[in-house]
Amino acid sequence: MDTKTKYLGLELKSPIVVGSCGLTSDVDKMVQMEQAGAGAVVIKSIFEEQIIYDIKRNTHVVAPTDNYGDSYEYIAMHVADDSLERHFSMIREAKQRLTIPVIGSINCFSYENWLTYAQKFQDAGCDALELNMAILPYETSLSADDVERTFNQIINTLRKTVTIPISIKVGTYFTDMAKQMQQLSWMGIQGVTMFNKNVQVDVDIENETLKNASWLSNPGELYNTLRWVAILSKKMRCDVSASTGVSSGDDVVKLLLAGATSVQVVSALYRDGIDTLRQMNDTLQQWMQRKGYDNIAAFRGKLAVAPAEKASVAMRTQFMKFFAEIV
Ligand SMILES: Cc1cc2nc3c(=O)[nH]c(=O)nc-3n(C[C@H](O)[C@H](O)[C@H](O)COP(=O)(O)O)c2cc1C
Repeated sequence: MDTKTKYLGLELKSPIVVGSCGLTSDVDKMVQMEQAGAGAVVIKSIFEEQIIYDIKRNTHVVAPTDNYGDSYEYIAMHVADDSLERHFSMIREAKQRLTIPVIGSINCFSYENWLTYAQKFQDAGCDALELNMAILPYETSLSADDVERTFNQIINTLRKTVTIPISIKVGTYFTDMAKQMQQLSWMGIQGVTMFNKNVQVDVDIENETLKNASWLSNPGELYNTLRWVAILSKKMRCDVSASTGVSSGDDVVKLLLAGATSVQVVSALYRDGIDTLRQMNDTLQQWMQRKGYDNIAAFRGKLAVAPAEKASVAMRTQFMKFFAEIV
């Protein structure tokens, strides 16, 4: 069975990609991922605050630290001065030791001069760059238009800064999700990763403080990803990488049927180990064999909403079927 696929214009041996996380800042672990069948790896993100800190420290350019408040102070206090140099040397080592594509990642939320550093990811050898656009509508003063403007400014500048393929990783907070995703795909980027998982905030009732809930997703979170990949994959002009809630090879098959070009996995690797990639690939191959599919293109997108089809009607029909069964 041929599980090769093209993602962001890159040849992947498997559509299963390891998403950005702590495991992808360790080259030995990334070698294990390749051996277990990962198609590519997305390196652990660096934060735009880290870049701003580096710009300020090294160039004495006036960096707009006021915009960042406590998040900048946190970085300035906790991140080693050479953290970016070490990050780029880790990427260079990964490029030497891996044969699969290595995708760099930046976590950003504002249009500032951190964008100049995108070039360094390309210089370090990254095959592509995934931008985790953590622009969340938390401010009462922020309109959907403001969010869209920031997206556009960042993407337009990034396209002038690097020549490697660009993918944009987004969250789920869009009132007009379908329209926004389609517009993003028209901006000359090569991919959209749907979706980033927001940090869940919990409360420690003994200490009466905020704390982070578990970072790991649960298998039930797949369905939101699956819905949107199926609705949008054929209506977008770039690749769709599916992320959040992927815990098995069956999930990979489902997302490919929904039209994903690649499928990213993180929590499952923390929970079940890196070798789970091998099982996921085995399941995909066995399913393809059972179904008589020689390659991914033979079935990818089979269950996606067609370009001219109304997604609202397709989804409503599913909803009706559900109620018809229970009344
Ligand atoms: C421990 C941990 C660290 C993560 N770090 C990053 C990161 O640096 N950049 C990023 O874009 N996403 C990061 N993520 C989010 C994952 O890439 C992924 O989008 C999310 O976990 C949902 O996928 P999953 O259901 O397979 O876990 C992290 C997730 C975990 C669990």
